[in-house]
Amino acid sequence: MPSSKLSFHVSPGGCLKGRVRVPGDKSISHRSIMLGALADGVTEVTGFLEGADCLATLQAMRALGVSVETLGQGHVRVHGVGVDGLRAPAAPLDLGNSGTSMRLMAGLLSGQPFDSTLTGDASLSRRPMRRVTGPLTDMGASIETTPDGTPPIHVHGGGALRGIRYDMPVASAQVKSALLLAGLYAAGETCVREPAPTRDHTERMLAGFGYAVERDGNQVCLRGGGRLRATRVDVPADISSAAFFLVGASLAPGSQLVLEHVGINPTRTGVIDILRMMGADIEVMGAREVGGESVADLRVGYALLHGIDIPEELVPLAIDEFPAIFVAAACAEGTTRLTGAAELRVKESDRIQVMADGLHACGVDAQPTTDGIVILGTGGHIQGGNVDSHGDHRIAMAFAMAGLCSTSPITIADCANVNTSFPGFIDMAQRIGLNIKAGEA
Ligand code: S3P
Repeated sequence: MPSSKLSFHVSPGGCLKGRVRVPGDKSISHRSIMLGALADGVTEVTGFLEGADCLATLQAMRALGVSVETLGQGHVRVHGVGVDGLRAPAAPLDLGNSGTSMRLMAGLLSGQPFDSTLTGDASLSRRPMRRVTGPLTDMGASIETTPDGTPPIHVHGGGALRGIRYDMPVASAQVKSALLLAGLYAAGETCVREPAPTRDHTERMLAGFGYAVERDGNQVCLRGGGRLRATRVDVPADISSAAFFLVGASLAPGSQLVLEHVGINPTRTGVIDILRMMGADIEVMGAREVGGESVADLRVGYALLHGIDIPEELVPLAIDEFPAIFVAAACAEGTTRLTGAAELRVKESDRIQVMADGLHACGVDAQPTTDGIVILGTGGHIQGGNVDSHGDHRIAMAFAMAGLCSTSPITIADCANVNTSFPGFIDMAQRIGLNIKAGEA
């Protein structure tokens, strides 16, 4: 079925009940393949997210000469080739919808002795890449985008990289990670300073692979020229996928849900903080450490939500969860205001505009601003309607949850990309009580 033809149909009512483990963390899954490939020895990954984005990274690594075995149910075995063992790809590397693959690979490939080209789908081909190619050029890389700063990216290998100190203008884990991966190949020290904390999976996982990384306040540094030792990676469930059900259960009277083994790395838990500020009933149970990452079970029950002014410092810590949070805000009592979130405009879609349009279609007063949105909560139910997700997985899943507080059905168009981050979403959502089915538009 061509991607634009898959739609979701959600009938109003129902509630979410049971215990589920959502698929593996997307950010950690990408990094497990990249670092496993660069390590000496065999890395076993469990809980790997077999969604299209992480599979694009996996295929790219295969195209670079790495043997990667997929053993089913999230078990992946990566036969590391060492930092100096990648081979020139025979063709451009197609990274599909995945910004993380493209930006991190741009860093990694800048340090290789061969040329490579990175391409993506229509959405990825619109996304800004100068944020990585700029500082990589400063490190001595020879790397080009289109004149608009968008993909494809051409990397001319063979140049010598040197470490730099880089003050990131935007809080971006992808930029930070790209520079750290290039830094593995650079002479001297590479340091990245972030304007606000962003997800730190790269730093944690590098340490897990035996590579020295130093954090000092808002700066992270490493020295080039070291080697990585293969290890085991146990990928927790993705809090960004769990977020949809945290919102859905909060909105539907009678809900009581446990989300198992969710990653609660403190650079990712902004959604829990924001929903709790809105009055959500979320309990973090049995927090434990698994392979350098914190994990817990999350219990969530129905609660009356109210609108808030979202603190700007929480924005990078909840950056992927705003589509779901906007749906919570639409059904909450009172006004929710988001500022300092211009980055949302350059995600898989312009998430401020596309969410505002979708909320309008459901009768909600939502005013986009340059760097955020103002949503007037209905204090109960929203209307149904026809929503266009613009091929953005998180917009599609956010509006699926809106069915739990709508008065009539919601139809969501262009949903195939849900498979990029949450394969099996429809089945799992049905199993816990959402009245949803997928079909042709
Ligand atoms: C990611 C970082 C974030 C996030 C993306 C995954 C990562 O992007 O939105 O889904 O894995 O590093 P930015 O670094 O552009 O904020």
